[in-house]
Amino acid sequence: MISLPNGHNIEYLASSGALAYDGRGYWWEQPLRWVGLLDISLFTPVTKTLTYLPNGGNCKRFNPFSCIRFVKDGVLNSFGLGNPGIDWWIKNHREFSGIVSIYPEDDYTLGKMLRKLQETNVIGIELNVSCPNVGRDSFCSNVHNIEYFLSVTKSNTALPIIVKLGVGQDIGNLFPQIEKYVDAISINSVPWNIVFPNIKSPFEELGGGALSGKIIQPYIWNFINKLKEITDIPIIGSSIWEYKDIRILRENLKVSAISFGSIFLRYPWRPTEYIRRWTENI
Ligand SMILES: Cc1cc2nc3c(=O)[nH]c(=O)nc-3n(C[C@H](O)[C@H](O)[C@H](O)COP(=O)(O)O)c2cc1C
Repeated sequence: MISLPNGHNIEYLASSGALAYDGRGYWWEQPLRWVGLLDISLFTPVTKTLTYLPNGGNCKRFNPFSCIRFVKDGVLNSFGLGNPGIDWWIKNHREFSGIVSIYPEDDYTLGKMLRKLQETNVIGIELNVSCPNVGRDSFCSNVHNIEYFLSVTKSNTALPIIVKLGVGQDIGNLFPQIEKYVDAISINSVPWNIVFPNIKSPFEELGGGALSGKIIQPYIWNFINKLKEITDIPIIGSSIWEYKDIRILRENLKVSAISFGSIFLRYPWRPTEYIRRWTENI
């Protein structure tokens, strides 16, 4: 469990993109809610990433599966930053009490987004600085830019800050500098070319996309171990696919909280089932 400085506790999260923009899930998940196989009250929701202005992203309109593909033991997505923008989100989600994921494009619009969110019921900010589907020239590969955007975030919000990192990032040069800005660390999906450097991605024309789920466990879990060597900031473990993965994350990797991501897309009933089973057995 992570106790945030504003008094909120987070233990199980629905990671960004897993349960849409409101933490209630996508339309195809609603029947599972009606029959009790998906209990959204068990999860602290993280919204899909928002930018200041609406962003077209990579998906074809009204067809999210044009940029999502199920692969063996995981999910490949090339969503990009497609989203309707911060003003639309605030207008339509006044009651949302979870974490908002935002992507910084520049310091001015980042500050504006944060000040707008300060007026809502949001309990925390997740700063997405790992952007696997944004392109190689983005700021995400530059540790100074990441540190700068975190400092801008800290000075524009009183909300707790989760930083979302990626396995390809130079964490040796990010820590300890960013520790003063950050309350927890989450981890993004892994770019296709890291997992399959010699195989062409089905989403080559969309930048290659990023993988998530069981297929990336070795990358994510190795990254967690590396993070643990250099920082004491609480880590949110991910890439749960089977029930035993909860024990591995909690007892071997000693993460402080757990997020469920692409498992919601592939097996939407599993996160609820696993949490119920874990809670009964302890
Ligand atoms: C379809 C889809 C959309 C996603 N959208 C976002 C997003 O908007 N922002 C973000 O930070 N991560 C996004 N992610 C990454 C997840 O939040 C999560 O970090 C990733 O899937 C790794 O966790 P997992 O292996 O448990 O799925 C997305 C993942 C998927 C599969």
